[in-house]
Amino acid sequence: KQLKLSLAQLEKGGYDTFMLKEIFEQPTTLRDCLRGRITGDCSRVTLSGVELNKDRFLQAERITLVACGTSWHAALIGKRLIQDFCQIPVEVEYASEFRYGNPVLNDRDIVIAISQSGETADTLAAIQLAKDKGAFVYGVCNVVGASIPRATDSGTYIHVGPEIGVASTKAFTGQVTVLTLLALAVGQLRGVIDSSTVQSVATALNAMPGTIEETLKCNDAVQKLSMFFTYAHNFIYLGRGYNYPTALEGALKLKEISYIHAEGYPAAEMKHGPIALIDQEMPSVIIAPSDSLYDKIISNVQQVKSRGGAVVAIVSKGNTAMKDIANFCIEIPDVPECLTPLVASIPLQLLAYYIAVNKGKNVDQPRNLAKSVTVE
Ligand code: G6P
Repeated sequence: KQLKLSLAQLEKGGYDTFMLKEIFEQPTTLRDCLRGRITGDCSRVTLSGVELNKDRFLQAERITLVACGTSWHAALIGKRLIQDFCQIPVEVEYASEFRYGNPVLNDRDIVIAISQSGETADTLAAIQLAKDKGAFVYGVCNVVGASIPRATDSGTYIHVGPEIGVASTKAFTGQVTVLTLLALAVGQLRGVIDSSTVQSVATALNAMPGTIEETLKCNDAVQKLSMFFTYAHNFIYLGRGYNYPTALEGALKLKEISYIHAEGYPAAEMKHGPIALIDQEMPSVIIAPSDSLYDKIISNVQQVKSRGGAVVAIVSKGNTAMKDIANFCIEIPDVPECLTPLVASIPLQLLAYYIAVNKGKNVDQPRNLAKSVTVE
């Protein structure tokens, strides 16, 4: 048989859109991102940017993460990782707020700027300000040689390859992966993380390309369930702990490409306002892996159900209890708690994707959005 592919299809690797290609590329991009950064026995993580600047990381009294958009969501996960593994106080700021917020910084501060494109104007300005105040600035970027990696003192590339779809997918998982590596490397350097934690997290991280491959098997189930929600006007995404930022990111993906209003919320905050919105018309997506907060989130799910709202739950493989409560369950592989955002974000990317496709939207180039925002 003759294989007929147009040039446009070839560019997309046979996928209908760049976004779908980039979602399915994640096992490969994470392999590229991890390459050479974890020792063969998974006992050590080495990042040259940390190795070459040991003193700055040893002396750091605070780390501030600055970013915009999806990169800001990765920063929120990074905060938790660095706090857990390095015992350094961490703050997260939108670059646009940081640059005009008169931040108090000195040479014991590290500012980590996260940017896929490496060109975001607000992030670049935040870096300049941080450098002027004496902070050590570290970049977590994708595009090699872009303005941000050139402006920073040091950094780590995520190496996920060009991201064309405006809605960020593989860059997000690359950023979270690098932030996990960074937290492990700095925790080891400062001697505050025990070797068994390094071993178990690094082993699971090393296996992440295969784990994401496994997670992507939810594609057909997510496509099917997307049909039920194509005409919803509002969505709420709920998560706790490590997955509160995942909820924010899931909601952002849906907003960006399907133009459905979606809000991400820490699940327990729902009772302080958003619960008033829940009715039959308002579906909830709840990220509930079997982690330390699972029992707590179950009660949040029940609160939604008792108000007639439909629930899509993202749960760990083998969870049967949630099937009795939620309308739809999507299973993700079991991984250490700190790595759950990496796997939980996959079905959320697919859900936003299929809802947008069902609505006939241009997922690669959504209206009003730009891939790289080089103006204020
Ligand atoms: C734009 C893009 C987003 C991205 C944000 C930050 O809004 O549409 O996908 O997350 O900029 O971009 P950066 O390149 O700095 O990560």
